[in-house]
Amino acid sequence: MSTVVLDRPRPKSAARPVAPEPLIAMRNVCKGYGSGVTRNEVLTNINLNLRPGEFLAVVGFSGSGKTTLTKLLAGLETPDSGEIVMENQVITEPSQERGIVFQNYSLLPWLTVRGNISLSVDRVFRHWSKAQRREHTDKFIEMVGLSHAVHRRPHELSGGMRQRVSLARTLAMKPKVLLLDEPLSALDALTRATMQDEILKIWEEERQTCLLITNDVDEAILLADRIVPLNPGPNASLGPAFTVELDRPRVKTELNHNETFKGLRNAITNYLVAVRQKSREDQASASRTSPIELPDLKPRSLALPRKAILNSPV
Ligand SMILES: Nc1ncnc2c1ncn2[C@@H]1O[C@H](COP(=O)(O)OP(=O)(O)OP(=O)(O)O)[C@@H](O)[C@H]1O
Ligand SMILES: [Mg+2]
Repeated sequence: MSTVVLDRPRPKSAARPVAPEPLIAMRNVCKGYGSGVTRNEVLTNINLNLRPGEFLAVVGFSGSGKTTLTKLLAGLETPDSGEIVMENQVITEPSQERGIVFQNYSLLPWLTVRGNISLSVDRVFRHWSKAQRREHTDKFIEMVGLSHAVHRRPHELSGGMRQRVSLARTLAMKPKVLLLDEPLSALDALTRATMQDEILKIWEEERQTCLLITNDVDEAILLADRIVPLNPGPNASLGPAFTVELDRPRVKTELNHNETFKGLRNAITNYLVAVRQKSREDQASASRTSPIELPDLKPRSLALPRKAILNSPV
């Protein structure tokens, strides 16, 4: 049996490990849109820590509030209550420290691949020489495998290539945090798999803090260190975090036979199915119990002549 020595200070090595300070912390964040009867409560009591260097995935159903969550982290929306803090500063507006890649590619159609990326690079690194900015832009074009297409405009690119430009543009700005809002959801399965490998490769090189929003559990397990489910809305809240204990580098084809991968996929999928079922039951019982207010109207007698109906008291 071990003995505890009370009168001697604990040696430093035996001290309990301290969790790293989060880079971004969301505290009791609530967010809804509209007012009055059209008010839509989207997110409720969101508490989330994004740790430095971690790859965190948020998985959830369509319409549950994933993009709203990303916009809040980016500073494009502000919470109705609660706060979001990055390195002791409350997030109130967008910043180049938080790079975002959206579901749609949002490229400027009149600019080439290089033009779309250099526009951001020139703005962020305006103190660099022209040659330095050009070299930096080309490094990221090469990183996403588009060196052969630098002069092409977005309409001359495939969906996967456009999303790569979008990714390269955000990465080239060297943000401290990368916010990826379902960046691969518009792609076909094969291109999506290739892009997943590319994101994984780039992240393993750069080790930027990254938050990935996805509706694909397998994608989340392949890429992330931790996975947090977003429960269905309205009033969506976060579920328990699942830690991905799989060694890196991860190879998709090998993971399919891995017991840890299969167990985690079952656990997360079962969780999501159960919360969706509960949400549907809650909504059904709420609509059964909520009384419908009927207007206080008295029917008019149709036996009266037409003129009398029009002039009769309401
Ligand atoms: N600007 C807005 N004004 C009003 N309602 C909004 C606005 N943006 C989003 N919503 C509503 O908030 C809810 C969550 O939307 P959001 O786009 O965050 O969901 P999502 O999880 O990203 O969906 P998807 O998976 O389809 O992208 C939806 O009901 C949507 O209609
Ligand atoms: Mg969305």
